[in-house]
Amino acid sequence: MKTTTRSLRALKGVRPIVCLTAYDTVTARIAEEGGADLLLVGDSVGNTVLGLPDTVGVTMDMMIHHTAAVARAKPAALVVGDLPFALAHDSFPKLLGYARRFLQEGGAQAVKIEGGATLAPAIAKLVDAGIPVMGHVGLLPQRVHAAGYRRRGLTAEDQVRLLADAVAVAEAGAFAVVVECVDAKFMPALTAAVAIPTIGIGSGQGCDGQILVLHDLLGLTPQPPPFVRPEAHLHRDAVAAVRRWAGRVRRPSSRR
Ligand code: KIV
Repeated sequence: MKTTTRSLRALKGVRPIVCLTAYDTVTARIAEEGGADLLLVGDSVGNTVLGLPDTVGVTMDMMIHHTAAVARAKPAALVVGDLPFALAHDSFPKLLGYARRFLQEGGAQAVKIEGGATLAPAIAKLVDAGIPVMGHVGLLPQRVHAAGYRRRGLTAEDQVRLLADAVAVAEAGAFAVVVECVDAKFMPALTAAVAIPTIGIGSGQGCDGQILVLHDLLGLTPQPPPFVRPEAHLHRDAVAAVRRWAGRVRRPSSRR
C-alpha cells in the first residue's frame, strides 16, 4: 500500500520510521525493496553522485531530473523532493512554482525545505495550497558557507533555538521534520515537544525515525560521516568485479 504523508505521520509513537535517499530508479528500487517508508531525493545528489563539493550548486532542473527518475520506480514509499539552496526565500509565487514542479513534473508527493521558524509562514502557505512539506532543522548543509557543518544543540541557547524552529515548522503544518546532527542527549526532549515525527540523521536514537544517504549505507562513498556504519562495501566490490572482467578481457585465452 502506498505510504502517504498522513500514514507516515501516524507512525509517530507507533514504530520507528525508515527513510533513505534515492537519486534514480536503481537506488529507488533498492531502498524500496529494502523496506524504506520514505525516499528522499536529497540535494545531497550534488556531492554524492554529481561530483559537486556541496549542495549549494544543485539546481531545480537537476532535482526534477532525479526526482522523476525515482518516481519512475513507482515505489510504495513516499517520494519527497528536496528544495535546492536558498529557493525557499524567494517570493511565495516563485516558491509555489518550485513546489508545483516537484509534484507535477517530478512525481513527488511532498517537498522538503531546509530552515526553521523564519520559513514557517511560507511552509503554512504551501500546506494551504495542498503541497505537503517536510521540515529540516539542526545542521543545514545548504548553509555550509554561512555556518559550516558543526553539530547543533550543544548549548542551552542553541537548544532553545532548535526547539523553536522544530515547533514552528510543525505548527506551520509540516508532516515530519528532519533533524540533522543534533546532540543525541537533547533529541528525546525535542521529539516529545513536536506533534510530528522527527527523522534523525546523526542525532542518535531519540527520534521517531532515521534517515541516511543510501550511498553511505552501502559503502559507495569514500568517506561516510562518522555516524554511519556501512552495511555493505559496494564500491570495493564493484571495483573488484570490474578488475576481474578487465583481466579476462586482457587474457585472450581466458573465457569471457
Ligand atoms: O539532501 C539530503 O540527502 C538530506 C538528508 C541528508 C536528510 O537532506
